[in-house]
Amino acid sequence: MTVAGEPVRVRLSVNGRAEVGLAEPRTTLAEFLREELGLTGTHVGCEQGVCGACTVVVDGAAVRGCLMFAVQADGRAVETVEGLAAEGGMHPLQRAFWDAQALQCGFCTPGLLMTALVALRERPEWTREALRERLSGNLCRCTGYSTVLDAVLAAGRAGAGDGGDDGSAGAGAPASGEAGPR
Ligand code: FES
Ligand code: FES
Repeated sequence: MTVAGEPVRVRLSVNGRAEVGLAEPRTTLAEFLREELGLTGTHVGCEQGVCGACTVVVDGAAVRGCLMFAVQADGRAVETVEGLAAEGGMHPLQRAFWDAQALQCGFCTPGLLMTALVALRERPEWTREALRERLSGNLCRCTGYSTVLDAVLAAGRAGAGDGGDDGSAGAGAPASGEAGPR
């Protein structure tokens, strides 16, 4: 029998690996990934669904890890930034961020990468304006967004949504954007 508020077992797939951990009903997915599974690549900023730093992919959709409870992810497939790089190499999207110098402090970067990954899986070619809108739910206090857009557009041309040259990414599904990059 489960007592209200007590930790429960959560089983899920993370970056293709079966994982199991304990989570209180109030534990967010972001917290669970970071503290229970040790996957600290997912960052936590506002904790209220505004900044996008905690964005991960759940069953193909980009979601706010701070707005989803870990228990809601039970039985689902989660992708985090740690799953992007295959065997130590950079994913084409990460490579594009590197080449375009699309990060400074890097706090927003994992969330931006996961949002962009889903967008590029949905379609590789974006206009700059449409992409700006699509990434608008991920806030960055450093870059001014221009190089981020450069990077994601370049990554799309390089086939990053399909995994690019290294074939490291799989299929996914769309997500919605909010306010942000200008
Ligand atoms: S920490 Fe989740 S949206 Fe800011
Ligand atoms: S690179 Fe610093 S917040 Fe985006």
